[in-house]
Amino acid sequence: MGENIKLSGTTGLVGTVGIPGDKSISHRSVMLAGLADTKVKVTNFLHSADCGATIACMRAMGVVVEKDEIGDLAIIGRGLFGLSEPQDVLDAGNSGTTMRLLTGLLGAQQFFSVMTGDSSLRKRPMGRAIAPLTKMGIQITGRQQSRYAPLAISPAGQVEGIEYEMPVASAQVKSAILLAALYAGNSSTIIEPMPSRDHTERMLETFGVPIVKNGRAITLHPVQALTAPELINVPGDISSAAFWLVAASIIPNSQLTLTNVGVNPTRTGILDVLKQMGADITITNERWSGREPVADIIVRSAKLKGVTIEADIIPRLIDEIPVLAVAALFADGRTVVQGAEELRVKETDRLKAVAVELGKMGAKITENDDGLSIEGPQQLEAAVCHSHDDHRMAMALAIAGVAAHGVEIQEPDCVQVSYPDFFTVLSALRRDE
Ligand code: S3P
Repeated sequence: MGENIKLSGTTGLVGTVGIPGDKSISHRSVMLAGLADTKVKVTNFLHSADCGATIACMRAMGVVVEKDEIGDLAIIGRGLFGLSEPQDVLDAGNSGTTMRLLTGLLGAQQFFSVMTGDSSLRKRPMGRAIAPLTKMGIQITGRQQSRYAPLAISPAGQVEGIEYEMPVASAQVKSAILLAALYAGNSSTIIEPMPSRDHTERMLETFGVPIVKNGRAITLHPVQALTAPELINVPGDISSAAFWLVAASIIPNSQLTLTNVGVNPTRTGILDVLKQMGADITITNERWSGREPVADIIVRSAKLKGVTIEADIIPRLIDEIPVLAVAALFADGRTVVQGAEELRVKETDRLKAVAVELGKMGAKITENDDGLSIEGPQQLEAAVCHSHDDHRMAMALAIAGVAAHGVEIQEPDCVQVSYPDFFTVLSALRRDE
């Protein structure tokens, strides 16, 4: 267990932040490049614990991943049909994306594999990915009637295409099916209840896989080989930018420029909600990084007001709710989050963790079955709070603390999962009087 981090309140955050690479896109870049057979360079890759787990798993199947002195990757894949049987158990660590996406990829291989993860990941639902894969003729078994990891994945027979109506909007489950569908004898169609992040679809297209979208339906036509781009430049992660968007909004005398932020519309719910709350956000320099849109974002302090965040926007800001709860504590009036029961099965139960840990700072947050209600503004006091070993909880608590009268965070090292430099960047931006 690492040491606690103590943060005092600050009177302003000022500066420019280069946003680290998108976690979702970083994972996918290693997986897809690993299935191609020409060298792919990946720039602005997120070197974090989660993405490191994906690299380790792909290496264990024969993919070459080299890192140069500035952190760029050179990946030499084994071709769609060239992965080799891992010699040992694959460890996804804390990463739901590694485990769920790899269930689809491993399930379609002609070899046996076993996958596990840390104590948090071993409690997260895997049945939602295994159910559609089973319908495709894939055999995966796990603990408790195949609901939880460790997972044992049998060598595949013929993978069948699927038409699947997803019960839950989940980009991880959708991506698992898409990866397995690459190996099917016929096409597959997935129907989403609501659009979830579409990085897998965009990157598959970049690798030459035909994807057809029709409303909520996504159809993939299998190919014999992937055709890799020479370069993938990973956009900055809007889920990491979210902490600065909220921090600069609620701390007076702040102005931050966030550069190279991915603004894929399936991810920008945080911008829509903050603008609705009255945030002062300017989006500039819009451009493309491959098939992903990117921009710079300027955010200044503003008086926020409470809003209702309804179910239909949740997939577009699923990882931003802990920090939005912090914004709500500083806003005038009531904020209600609805239809967010998925938060209960993230790295920790984030609805409960938000209510309990911000509660230690004196916040009164009502935890509902599917969301939160918060009456703002509220006065927070300094407190010792626990991250629940959840990176986004640790960072949300840090923002609440620096915006109020300080916080001491227990188990802060979990920020390694998605934003290893978070605390260093935070201290560089402070303008304490
Ligand atoms: C992710 C999808 C989301 C998100 C997670 C990353 C991805 O999970 O919460 O942080 O990379 O596909 P779900 O698919 O479970 O909603």
